[in-house]
This record gives sequence, C-alpha cells and structure tokens, in this order.
Amino acid sequence: MSQALCSRFRKSEEIWGMSHPFTRSAMDVLGRLYIGLAFALTLVGGAQVTFQLTGRTLVLGGVSYFVPPSPVSQLQLIGDIKTQKLIQSIGRTFAGALIPFSALTTETAHLDENSLEKTLHTWETLDDVWSRYFLTGLFVSFNGTSRSPPSISLPNVAKSLGTQIVLTSKQYTSGTRVSEKLAPGPYFVDAISGNVFQALRLYNDENQAFLYGTISDGHDGFQELSAHIGGAATESIAVPSRLYFTPTAQKPLAGKRLAVKDIYDVQGLRTGCGNRAFYELYPPKNKTAPAVQRLLDGGMVLVGKTKTSQFANGEVATADWVDLHAPYNARGDGYQDGSSSSTGSGTSMGAYSWLDHAIGSDTGGSMRGPSGANGVFGNRPSHGAVPLDDVMPLSPELDTGGIFARDAKSWATAGHWWYQNFTSFTSFPKTILFPIDDFGQSFLSNPPRPGTANALFNDFINKMETFLGTNRTEINFSNMWNTTKPANVTAPSLQLLLNTTYADIITLDQIALVADPFIADYKVAHDGRTPFINPTPLARWGYGRTLPATQKNEALVNKSIFMDWFATQVVKSDNATCSESIFLYPQSSGRTNYRDQYRSPPGVPFGFSSGRIAVYAETPDMVVPIGELAYNSTVSGVTEFLPVSLSFIAAKGCDLMLFDFFAALQDAGIISPVQTGSRLFQT
Ligand SMILES: *[C@@H]1O[C@H](CO)[C@@H](O)[C@H](O)[C@H]1NC(C)=O
Ligand SMILES: *[C@@H]1O[C@H](CO)[C@@H](O)[C@H](O)[C@H]1NC(C)=O
Ligand SMILES: *[C@@H]1O[C@H](CO)[C@@H](O)[C@H](O)[C@H]1NC(C)=O
Ligand SMILES: *[C@@H]1O[C@H](CO)[C@@H](O)[C@H](O)[C@H]1NC(C)=O
Ligand SMILES: *[C@@H]1O[C@H](CO)[C@@H](O)[C@H](O)[C@H]1NC(C)=O
Ligand SMILES: *[C@@H]1O[C@H](CO)[C@@H](O)[C@H](O)[C@H]1NC(C)=O
Ligand SMILES: *[C@@H]1O[C@H](CO)[C@@H](O)[C@H](O)[C@H]1NC(C)=O
Ligand SMILES: *[C@@H]1O[C@H](CO)[C@@H](O)[C@H](O)[C@H]1NC(C)=O
Ligand SMILES: *[C@@H]1O[C@H](CO)[C@@H](O)[C@H](O)[C@H]1NC(C)=O
Ligand SMILES: *[C@@H]1O[C@H](CO)[C@@H](O)[C@H](O)[C@H]1NC(C)=O
Ligand SMILES: *[C@@H]1O[C@H](CO)[C@@H](O)[C@H](O)[C@H]1NC(C)=O
Repeated sequence: MSQALCSRFRKSEEIWGMSHPFTRSAMDVLGRLYIGLAFALTLVGGAQVTFQLTGRTLVLGGVSYFVPPSPVSQLQLIGDIKTQKLIQSIGRTFAGALIPFSALTTETAHLDENSLEKTLHTWETLDDVWSRYFLTGLFVSFNGTSRSPPSISLPNVAKSLGTQIVLTSKQYTSGTRVSEKLAPGPYFVDAISGNVFQALRLYNDENQAFLYGTISDGHDGFQELSAHIGGAATESIAVPSRLYFTPTAQKPLAGKRLAVKDIYDVQGLRTGCGNRAFYELYPPKNKTAPAVQRLLDGGMVLVGKTKTSQFANGEVATADWVDLHAPYNARGDGYQDGSSSSTGSGTSMGAYSWLDHAIGSDTGGSMRGPSGANGVFGNRPSHGAVPLDDVMPLSPELDTGGIFARDAKSWATAGHWWYQNFTSFTSFPKTILFPIDDFGQSFLSNPPRPGTANALFNDFINKMETFLGTNRTEINFSNMWNTTKPANVTAPSLQLLLNTTYADIITLDQIALVADPFIADYKVAHDGRTPFINPTPLARWGYGRTLPATQKNEALVNKSIFMDWFATQVVKSDNATCSESIFLYPQSSGRTNYRDQYRSPPGVPFGFSSGRIAVYAETPDMVVPIGELAYNSTVSGVTEFLPVSLSFIAAKGCDLMLFDFFAALQDAGIISPVQTGSRLFQT
C-alpha cells in the first residue's frame, strides 16, 4: 500500500455523533481469507512459510461482497480517543470488525434530509454495488467554498437512516476545497487498523464464460480472485462500485468493467489459451499486453479472463471443447452455441448486465461469430488497429483485436479510445453495397416474406437508406470478381483463388509460433510426454504439417491480389467519408445451433465466404444486432427468440467512421442497445 494512499485521511476527520445501538442482522460474515501483504515467518528450524492475504468475502443485506486485500485509504483519528473507542466498539459487533459505510461529497453546507435522500436515490439507480446497508457509517466530504463552518443537520439525517457513526472532513474550515477525498460510494473500514477498503460485489458466472475473476494486486498487475460464492461449476467475479468513477477526457472509460479473452497477457496472471497444459506450463506473465494496457489507461477495470476456444481456433460446442467446457449463450433457450473463438467474451456480454465490455480477437471470424450468435455489438477492426504484442498469435498477418458492447454509443467511445491512430469523419458514405449473392436474392425484384430474417434485413436497410438519403446498390459479388479481376489473374472465381489461403496462413503461422515451442517446452518439463491438444487445433496443425514452407508466401500473394482488387473495385477510400461505400452482409439470421448436437469431426477451414472479405482485405467488419426471430425450442418446448444481425464493411482504416455511424443510427432510433438474457429487446 502506497504512502500516498495511507496518508489521505490523516487529521481530516471529526466525529459528529452516533445514535442507535448497532443491530447486526444486516451483516453476516461468511469467511475470511487474507492476502495482499506477503511476508515470511521464520520457523525454529529456519524453514520459511509464506503467508499471503487474499481478501475476505462476506454477505451484507443478502448480497455477497468481496473485500480486497489492499486498502485504498486509512482513517486516522489522531488524538480522538473517544471516536476510536466508538469505532472499535461498533467494529466488535461486526464479525471481522469491518464496518460498512458510505462516502459522499457535497457542496452545500446544509445537508438536509431531502438532498441526502436524493443522492441516495440516484446511487440506487446508478450502481449495483451500493445499498442502504452501507449507511451504518457515513463519511461526508465538503467541497464547497463556504468560509464559515456550515450549519450541519447531519446527525438528524443520519438518525433517520439508521446510521451509527458520521464522520466529516474538516478541511472545509480552511476555506479551500478538499482535493484529496474518498470517491463517493460504499466502503468497509477495519475498526482496528482504520484501513478503508473498496466494496466489490460478487457475481456468479452462471454462463461459465470466465476462466477466472481478477482483482488488482495493488500495484500495476492483477491476481486471480480468491472468492467463490457457490453455483454449479461457476467462477465468481468481483466488480467495484460504479460510484467510484467519473469519466474525464484523460480517462473516458473510467469504471467500465472489462473482461479479457484469455489469449491476452496480463501482468500477474497466467495466459491459458484454452489449454490446461499451457496454463500450467508457463508462469504468470510479467507484462500486460499494450492493447489491454491502453484500455486500463483509459480507466477500464479488469474483472476477469474469459474462455477462448483452444488457441483461438474455431471450435463448435460442445464436443470440440474437450479441455474446457464451452460457455453458455444466454439467448433463446440458453442451449445454443455461442460461436468461437472469443466465446467467453461474447457470451459474457449477452449474459451479464454487470459487465460493460469484453475484448477478443478476430482472425477468421472470432469476434464476428460470437457477436452474431450472442446478439451483441462486436467488431473485427482494420488490421493493425491495435498492437497485438503479448497476445497469443493465430496468424500475425491476419490477427486483430476487437471489442464487444451492448450499446452503440459506449462501443463508439471505447473504439475511439482504443483505435487511437485512426481519423474521424464528419459525414457518412452515400453508397450501400448490397451483395445479392449474400442475401440469396435481389430484395428489389423479389421482396422477402414477412417474418423472415431477410424481411428484418430489408426493413433495416430501408431505414438506413432514408437516414443516408440514398438507395442501395445491388451487386452480384462473385460475378463482379469474374468481370473486374486483374487481367493477369486467371482464377475465375474467388473460391479458386482463396480456397486454401486462410488455412495455409494460419496453420503455418501457428505451428511455428505456438504449437512447436509449446510442445517442445512441455516435453522438457514432462519427461518427453506431449500435451493434450483439442481435436480442432490438432486437425488444423496436422494439415499445416503437410504443406511445403513456400505455401505461406503463395497464400499471401493471393491475399494481396484480393485486397488490392477489393480496395480498387469494390469498397474504395474516400476523402470526405473515409469509405466510398458500406458493404453489407448477413451475420446471423436467427437460426438454431443447439449445443447438444453431435457433428462430424473438425476439419480444416477451406473455402471462401463473405466472412473472409475483411480477413484478406484488412478492412473493418462490424456486427450490429438489428432484430430477433422466433423459433420453437426443442429444449424449453416453447417459442424462443434468437438474434438477427448484419455485418458492415468499410474501407481499411475507416473504423471510427463506422463507430460514429452506428452511434448516429442509435440516436436516430434505427438501432437500439440490447439487453442481457434470453431476449435482446424489451418486449
Ligand atoms: C462537489 O462534489 C459533487 C459530488 O461529487 C460534484 O457533483 C460537484 O461538482 C463538486 N463540486 C465542486 C465545486 O467541485
Ligand atoms: C519477463 O518474462 C519474460 C518471458 O518469460 C522473460 O524473458 C523476462 O526476463 C521477464 N522479465 C522480468 C523483468 O522478469
Ligand atoms: C499509434 O501511434 C502511436 C504514436 O505514433 C504509435 O506509437 C503506435 O505504435 C501506433 N499504434 C498502432 C497500432 O499503429
Ligand atoms: C451471381 O452471379 C453468379 C455468376 O454469374 C450466378 O451464378 C449467381 O446465380 C448470381 N447470383 C444471384 C443471386 O443472382
Ligand atoms: C430511390 O429510389 C426511389 C424509387 O426508385 C426513387 O424514387 C428515389 O428518388 C431514389 N432515391 C435516391 C436518393 O436516389
Ligand atoms: C466468368 O466469366 C466467364 C466469361 O464471361 C464465364 O464464361 C464464366 O462462366 C464465369 N465464371 C463464373 C465462375 O462465373
Ligand atoms: C499482375 O500485374 C501486376 C501489375 O499490373 C503485378 O504487380 C502483379 O505482380 C501481377 N500478378 C501476377 C500474379 O502476375
Ligand atoms: C478446397 O481445397 C480442399 C483441400 O485441397 C479441397 O478438398 C476442396 O475440394 C477445395 N474446394 C474447392 C472449391 O476448390
Ligand atoms: C492462389 O491462387 C491460385 C489461382 O490464381 C490457386 O491456383 C492457388 O491454389 C492459390 N494458392 C493459395 C495458397 O491460395
Ligand atoms: C483526396 O486527397 C488527396 C490528398 O489530399 C488528393 O490527392 C486526392 O485528389 C483527393 N481525392 C479526391 C477524390 O478528392
Ligand atoms: C411453432 O410451432 C407451432 C405449432 O407447430 C407452429 O404453429 C408455429 O408456426 C411454430 N413457430 C415457429 C416460430 O416456428
């Protein structure tokens, strides 16, 4: 704990009063585990025992909380013996001596019943961590400019709230604002040490999206959360109060709770990449990936690592997920495949309102698939949008880092911060490219039947046309290649040009960068044994091992041919709108994909489809939920609903234009934020 934190509260408190005798019904301490300050006990024989505090769990008002091992401040009542004794006596009545209290800041000298009640009511609607059970103690900081001591009616107010003890900051008397203060919100104070701890609420990861929860290690790193509140095969996740954070220009993402796909390194944590042997073999990382650090620097709070399909390869629930169990997609009956490979990040966003954002990666669809299946916003950015150092590679030439959201506006805020090197544009493209081969038909000559995904797409595109003041341009994408491809390229179809391109690049890259070093390291550590590898990566690496080393260069040449053609013939750059056009294709169509199906063994990802466009062309491909469709569930026996979403492609580097476009569409009521759980939209 830093000296700066310890000293915050010194000599700045004054006791105002106490009222009712304490009742302990609200608080029931479940258990205690200590970490934080690691130290060693030297035994008689000289052997050393390390002892590390790992925090405490408790239940207050029926809600589970976690008290982190490191305090954020310390209350010191120097010379005030009476107050110290009072706090200690309250503390003794709480098992564990932790007194819940609320900190608040006020400009008004006269904090009356009404204004206090108004603040508390706002807190209740804003925050899921604070509750009225935190009113046992009240710490009031004045940040007003009043020179004379304010008239205080606090004790009466406090009485009405059942508050036991009220402390106020004394610094207002100097006539200056209190600059060092405890951020508003719920806390616990240790009655014996005076240490002040943040209150973290514990949630159950019912959808099994997380590998583990995380908390700050009190320095620049993190540690795995030690708490567990029960539940079938679930992790617990601890989240801090939203009241502690206020977004600023320097920290626009302050307090946004973030989950990170377990292929990104984070200081203090192991990276598992969906493989148990890999998790065990390598020690905790000593560096946080710059892409994650950028989000933390913007104020986000890391709450956990989410499950990835193994080594970020495409796995189908459930049979392909041998080492880990596939996370549960919250939509519909709750037994649909959450897609992969950023599965845990996508499912967590569809399931948990207490989580704001999750990041993943997209090499061949690993952001876009989970976005579509889980009915959330999610993007594959332009290639190179964020550095992917200290992130497990599938293929550096194709890997990208994307972010999930449930709201286009917070998505845009996060995107602008994360993809800092791109440029914003103030106007939007006027051309909507509608590839009829992707939608299966021309909607102009053959309007879709109501109640189908195509009808939802058509309605949405109609609104988009009105918004942009344009009409869609129908194209036949495959035909376009045949008629506009470079003269010296013979392949008559994209299938022939690109059939093996993706499979060749990812398998050759991942064998060299991940598989071979991992297997060699494991053998050294395990007497020549090989580690377990899931069927999908095993099949893919097996294919890669049959290829000549020259195959990757040939594949990269074909990739470049496509990229250049797409940028010059299909979606061009534009000086005024970044991208001359927006290219649409269906991402999810409300179709079932039950997780209890037995399928054929995993193969190698050959072929070409629209999902590969952005992969080769290095463009953004952003997924937006636009509706949901009914189906009769074979699981629940009733009508359920699954997401329908569209993919939006623009020219390379036009990510911010698209983020702003979606925010504008949300302002115009054309797209809506999604909620968590079975249904996307309020019914
Ligand atoms: C005092 O604190 C309150 C609550 O945090 C805040 O709304 C207000 O703007 C602050 N006033 C000043 C003068 O800093
Ligand atoms: C951090 O870890 C890397 C990889 O294991 C290692 O090479 C490096 O020496 C470590 N750095 C520090 C400062 O421990
Ligand atoms: C973004 O720009 C900064 C500053 O020029 C540079 O250090 C960083 O590498 C760039 N990031 C990416 C992803 O290109
Ligand atoms: C697109 O063009 C191809 C090749 O000319 C043709 O086979 C296909 O039927 C066309 N698709 C549609 C939806 O018209
Ligand atoms: C869109 O098409 C309709 C019907 O053909 C036409 O009336 C309208 O002028 C077109 N709008 C634009 C912006 O081109
Ligand atoms: C490509 O165009 C040529 C010439 O117009 C035609 O013969 C051929 O069938 C087309 N191929 C495909 C795959 O559409
Ligand atoms: C095709 O021609 C372009 C120049 O027009 C050249 O850059 C490219 O290498 C050629 N591609 C092949 C496959 O020959
Ligand atoms: C794609 O390549 C695979 C493996 O070589 C082959 O089995 C398949 O037939 C090819 N598909 C097409 C459309 O060429
Ligand atoms: C590259 O494209 C050519 C056709 O132009 C095709 O024959 C070849 O198989 C492709 N190779 C790879 C690795 O994609
Ligand atoms: C776009 O800007 C570049 C450089 O500023 C200029 O050379 C080019 O002519 C512009 N293109 C259009 C279509 O205005
Ligand atoms: C569900 O089943 C009922 C009865 O068979 C049928 O009428 C209805 O159309 C089905 N709904 C959907 C969405 O398939």
